[in-house]
Amino acid sequence: MRGFEYAQRTLVRGGLVALGVVLLMGLGSALYGVTAVQQVVEPMGIDLRTPRILHTTFASAWIVLVGMSACVGWLGEQGPLGRGEKLALGGALTLFGAAGLGVLATVPLGLVSGREYLGFHPLLAVPILLGWLLLAGVFFRRALPGLFGRPVYVLMWAVGFVFFVVTFCEQYAWLLPEVFNDPIVDRRLQWKATGTLVGAVNLFVYGTALYLGEKLGTDPDVARSPRAFALFALGLLNSFTNFAHHTYHLPQSHTVKWIAFVVSMSEVLVLFVVLHGIVKQLSLSGGAARLLLVASKWWTAAIIASAVLLSIPPLNALVHGTWVVPGHAMGAMIGIDSMVLLAFVAWRLGETSPLRAHILLLNIALFGFVAWLHIAGLADGMARIDADPAAITAFAYRPAWLRTWLYPVLAVLGTGTALGLAALWWRWMPKAWSGRLSPGEPRS
Ligand code: HEM
Repeated sequence: MRGFEYAQRTLVRGGLVALGVVLLMGLGSALYGVTAVQQVVEPMGIDLRTPRILHTTFASAWIVLVGMSACVGWLGEQGPLGRGEKLALGGALTLFGAAGLGVLATVPLGLVSGREYLGFHPLLAVPILLGWLLLAGVFFRRALPGLFGRPVYVLMWAVGFVFFVVTFCEQYAWLLPEVFNDPIVDRRLQWKATGTLVGAVNLFVYGTALYLGEKLGTDPDVARSPRAFALFALGLLNSFTNFAHHTYHLPQSHTVKWIAFVVSMSEVLVLFVVLHGIVKQLSLSGGAARLLLVASKWWTAAIIASAVLLSIPPLNALVHGTWVVPGHAMGAMIGIDSMVLLAFVAWRLGETSPLRAHILLLNIALFGFVAWLHIAGLADGMARIDADPAAITAFAYRPAWLRTWLYPVLAVLGTGTALGLAALWWRWMPKAWSGRLSPGEPRS
């Protein structure tokens, strides 16, 4: 393993490969609903399960790998890589690569967990967890001394590393018969673990935004400000409570639901303030990275609205299980997380062009896509209220306009979003794989 810089570049490469899979499978999922497409793929035995599992699995991989590359960048600033660290880092990256290839090879063969999230075969969780522990070991060896005196992004990554391990293991509680045999306990644990896993991953994204803000900005204290620490504290608290708004339809006290609502809302509000603070101190020459951070700020504002929809119990009941859920998930994971991570990739790969028109068109397509998923989901939820239960599974209760336009519009706006992201991917993949840090280059 060559130095930290090479490890960072390898994580960026892995993240971009994962994004490529996300886009292909996202397209597959979006086009699958169009009758003409279904008539072609169904006789070939292709169903929606494979694209969905690969889409959501590699969506998490894209976010985690690029979030980690920022963290490895910071590790590199703490001094050259030691011999033991080289082995650990090399081992971690190899295990992640093997797990990724394993998922790609096994899911299309139907070797899956059958779960809503982490749908790949549970055996593949082993290399992911081992790789994670190896990387966490390298991180804590350098970050622990004087941890509380370090910029807040180091604290965010530290908590993210620990939380991921806890929630990732919790995700597999269903392997225990006493959990698997009790659907309520199983559902509660699954959604609690998923909510907390999202919280852990968010801490890597927030850390990356603050680390990049420090690199690109003029305010050396942007990652030591009280609002940055407020975001850290709320992100931490929300990791414990946000599960509640994933489980409204399971028996639990209303107090828990309202605590989750207040904490989630505060977190998104403070995130908006922090991103505003980061963007404000960025020099205008920040190019594409700056524009992408500006986009993530405004997406945070937009997600506040979507989160309100999902967090108020009666509204949650209305939209649960509808297209609002993927709309909210993708609004947050593309609009906030991916814009921050694309900004980091643009900076790391030395993107010099501001790409204004491109970033604007991407965000317009994404806005249309997310808005349509919310409109379709809300219309579905409303029409479902008085529907005959027998009509629910076949969506026979759907208004005619929704039956006609749901999938064609989803396919068009989804494709627009995919093309917007793919154009950046196409521009940056060659940069990520060539030059001094390319795999083929001799050691420098
Ligand atoms: C970085 C980009 C993307 C990320 C991070 C992402 C993430 C996700 C996530 C997490 C879900 C699952 C939501 C849930 O049910 O809880 C999802 C579902 C979905 N995504 Fe994406 N997505 C991305 C891009 C796209 C694109 C470009 C398209 C369209 C071409 C797309 C189409 C879909 C569809 C159709 C679903 C619903 C699948 C189903 O439940 O059957 N995604 N996405």
